[in-house]
Amino acid sequence: MADPVAVWHAEHMRFASLLDFIETQMTAFHSGQDPDYELLRDVVYYLHHYADRYHHPRENVAFARLVSRDPWIGLVIGRILQEHRVLEHAGAALLKHLDDILEDVVIPRETVEAAAATYLLYYRHHLAAEEGEILPRAARLLKPDDWAAVAGAVPAAPDPLFGDDVGERYRELRKRLKPLAAS
Ligand SMILES: [Fe+2]
Ligand SMILES: [Fe+2]
Repeated sequence: MADPVAVWHAEHMRFASLLDFIETQMTAFHSGQDPDYELLRDVVYYLHHYADRYHHPRENVAFARLVSRDPWIGLVIGRILQEHRVLEHAGAALLKHLDDILEDVVIPRETVEAAAATYLLYYRHHLAAEEGEILPRAARLLKPDDWAAVAGAVPAAPDPLFGDDVGERYRELRKRLKPLAAS
């Protein structure tokens, strides 16, 4: 069986590559060019519909197990759990703006820029906190039965963007991300 912490870390690296993609597109947007709105929307859609629904619920179980082993980490985990909720709302808000743009609804550029910047800032901070404060402790403290509970937190679902069977809506994005995903 694959090392669960290595799998966890690899997902974070993929999310980080998606955040870089959002940033590159938003830099173009900031300088007055048009980003690729459809790809941008697909990235945020993936993070909202895959990370929020599969990655975070598994983490929530891992966090609960960690607190039961090391109560001192409860404060950090309380903050990280709150960030999951903030990320879900920030992702939904950004997704709505991108959907609106694609449906030709006129919205101020600053609104989209602010929503994307908030999302990037929060998400990167969140990944750094988990990588620095959680994963090393999880590697030390969680046992096979904990990892089984983590895996069972949500029904197994193939990753529709980075998995072997790329979902229809993600094919173009996957092509664009290939060099990043393989690194
Ligand atoms: Fe998380
Ligand atoms: Fe995470």
